[in-house]
Amino acid sequence: MIKLLKFYQDRGIKIVRGEGQYVWDERNNKYLDLHAGHGVAFLGHGNKIVIDYLKKQMEEISTLSLAFDTPIREEMIKELDELKPENLDNLFLLNSGSEAVELALKIARKITKRRKVVAFKNSFHGRSMGALSVTWNKKYREPFEPLVGPVEFLEYNNIDSLRSITEDTAAVIVEPVQGEGGVIPAKKEFMKNLREVTEKVNAILIMDEVQTGFGRTGKIWAHQHFDIKPDIVTAGKAIGGGFPVSAVFLPDWIGEKIEEGDHGSTYGGNPLAAAAVTAACKVAKSEKIAEQAQKKGELFMRILKEKLEDYKIVREIRGLGLMIGIDLKVNPSMAIKILQDEKVLSLKAGLTTIRFLPPYLIAQSDMEWASDAARKGISETESKRVAS
Ligand SMILES: Cc1ncc(COP(=O)(O)O)c(C=O)c1O
Repeated sequence: MIKLLKFYQDRGIKIVRGEGQYVWDERNNKYLDLHAGHGVAFLGHGNKIVIDYLKKQMEEISTLSLAFDTPIREEMIKELDELKPENLDNLFLLNSGSEAVELALKIARKITKRRKVVAFKNSFHGRSMGALSVTWNKKYREPFEPLVGPVEFLEYNNIDSLRSITEDTAAVIVEPVQGEGGVIPAKKEFMKNLREVTEKVNAILIMDEVQTGFGRTGKIWAHQHFDIKPDIVTAGKAIGGGFPVSAVFLPDWIGEKIEEGDHGSTYGGNPLAAAAVTAACKVAKSEKIAEQAQKKGELFMRILKEKLEDYKIVREIRGLGLMIGIDLKVNPSMAIKILQDEKVLSLKAGLTTIRFLPPYLIAQSDMEWASDAARKGISETESKRVAS
């Protein structure tokens, strides 16, 4: 029988359906989903508006090249207008975060005619060759070298390190909160300096908001926390309400220099993706998802700190909005397994962090449930460590 390659460690459960912030396995066990398909299901599973839009679009027309106009793309543009990053009035749609990063890097080369890209230690930008080149983890990168270069990795949140950004730098790519790297929020002063330096040397500042974007951190775009305006924003995950779609936002001064043939994609901007983004925008506005993420994130963090901070193996509980990490002094895998046994799904970030990426629908009772499960996982990990 043919085997489905996963590239991920098997979690040992079969999930058969999802609704809101919950999923169910084949034995009808209910789980709180703080994994959310790597953060995609920020609007919850099975959002009614997203489903209705997709069903209707499926019946009308589901595939159509960008060479032809169609009403759903016009509706999407109108809906996105209020939510798009400030001054970034040009949009190209793709299918995954990596593809969005890939296009951003291509554009930076074309616009600046330079090659060097600066990224940061602990960064994650995807697994295609270009996106992988600016991803920090050697385990992901080394088997595939030589990748696209030159790339220089600087210390994240270290203003002094920004001196390496010079006139030969085409672009700097940065996450406003490093996700895969360990849920590490950027410091405001660092981001402000980064914007200043890139402007000074005319390097393109690419803000990779694939994981942070569309409300998760308490603002529609996480870079809004830092009062800066990037040149390019990449988005993905949450923007399609569960449908696979990603986006690259650009200002006019870059958009004007892009020519026919510079890029393209069979599925990019297909009518189903446009329907999903339209619906997701409607939900984002009517539900004020960013405000909810802000308030709920603060509450969740408070509950987690109350219940977990006294454990010796807890190094730090940190995050922004509903992007939360519990950093341990040890490998978090056992705690993540115990969380799952307590019916709470979470993910690992970096080498030592338990990551929670909840849907905005998470309730206080869910936060208590997750915190109690985390306490069990952490206390058992701690006692095992003492015993060994
Ligand atoms: C910040 C960031 N950029 C890019 C990606 C790659 O996205 P995808 O897996 O959709 O290609 C991810 C995925 O986790 C991400 O977190």
